[in-house]
Amino acid sequence: SVPVANVQAFASSYSGDVPLRYLRPELHAEEVLVDEPLQIPTVDMRKLLVDDDEMGKLHLACKEWGFFQLTNHGAAEEVIEKMKADVQEFFKLPLKEKNAYAILPNGVEGYGQHFVVSEDQKLDWADMHFLQSLPASERNMRFWPEEPTSFRGTLEKYSSELVKVSNCLLKLMAKNLLINPEQLTNMFDDGRQEVRMNYYPRCVHASKVIGLTPHSDHGGLTLLVQVNEVQGLQIKRNGKWIPIRPVPGAFIVNIGDTVEIMSNGEYKSIEHRAVVDPEKERLSIATFFSPNDGAIIGPLLELTKEKGAIYKSVSREKYIKFVRSRKLDGKSAINHMKL
Ligand code: SIN
Ligand code: FE2
Repeated sequence: SVPVANVQAFASSYSGDVPLRYLRPELHAEEVLVDEPLQIPTVDMRKLLVDDDEMGKLHLACKEWGFFQLTNHGAAEEVIEKMKADVQEFFKLPLKEKNAYAILPNGVEGYGQHFVVSEDQKLDWADMHFLQSLPASERNMRFWPEEPTSFRGTLEKYSSELVKVSNCLLKLMAKNLLINPEQLTNMFDDGRQEVRMNYYPRCVHASKVIGLTPHSDHGGLTLLVQVNEVQGLQIKRNGKWIPIRPVPGAFIVNIGDTVEIMSNGEYKSIEHRAVVDPEKERLSIATFFSPNDGAIIGPLLELTKEKGAIYKSVSREKYIKFVRSRKLDGKSAINHMKL
C-alpha cells in the first residue's frame, strides 16, 4: 500500500472545499433505493440448526442476495460490546499514537489507508486499521495496539467467537449446496481470519466523497458489525444501491468472491460500498474468513457437473497476490477469475 494522509485529523479541522483527491461525486450518480421492504433477509442461527425452512432461507439469501443479517448467532454479546468500545477508544487516540501502528510502504497490516496502489489514485474518506488474527501463529503483534490496554485481549476473544460462527455457517452452506462437508471445511481448517476496523469521519460534503469504494470482498465470508448508530453500508442490486439497516445485535454477513468461485457461481458475492454522514462519524468492524494457505481457489468438482467450471482455479498464494496488487474496483477482481 502507498502511504497517504490521515483523514480523521484533517476532517476535524478543515472547513473549505473537499481536496481533489477525495472528490468523487460520480459515485453518487446512481439511484439509491430507500424503500422499507427492500431489505436483505434475516436468518436466525438458532433456528438453522433445527429447522429446514430456516435452512431454505439461508440458501436463498446466499443465492439471491449474497448478504443477510444473522441473529441469535451465539457469539458472546459482552465480547462484541467490548470490541466495539475498544475500537472506538483506539480511533480516539492522538494521531501520533495511532501512527505507531501505521501500515508500512508495500505492507498489508496496520493503521492508515488500504487498497492504495498508486500516487494518483482517488482516495476514500476513511482511515482503517487492519490486522490478521488467525492462524494465531501468524499474528503480527507489532501492529496490535497496546492502547487501550484491553485491546489485545479483547481482539483475541473476538477472533475466537467469530471464527466459530464462520465455521458453523460454512458447514450449513455445504449442507445446502449438497456437497461433502469435508470439501469446504478442509479448505477452512486453520483458515485465515483478518479484522478491518473502519473509521469514517463526518464530511459536510458527504455526496462528493465516498467512505469505501464499491467492491466485492475477495475472501470467503465476511461478518460485519456496526459500531455506532450511524448507518452507511449500501449494497448494489439490479443496478441500484440499497442502504442496509442493521438489526441490533445481528451480524451482517456477506458471501465473498472465494465462496462465489468455490460454489461455481451458485452463491453470489455482491458489490457494496460505504457512504459517509454529513454530521456524524461512523465506525464499523469487518471480519474476513478465508481458506488456509495450502488451498486451491476454484470451483468445487461436485458443482461443475452440470454447466462445467465457470471460474479458473489458482493457488491461494497467487490469488492473494493478484487481489493485493489492485485497487478496489467493483467486481473487477472476480471477473478476472471467469473462464
Ligand atoms: C466493508 O465493506 O468492508 C465495510 C463496509 C462498512 O463499513 O459498512
Ligand atoms: Fe467489503
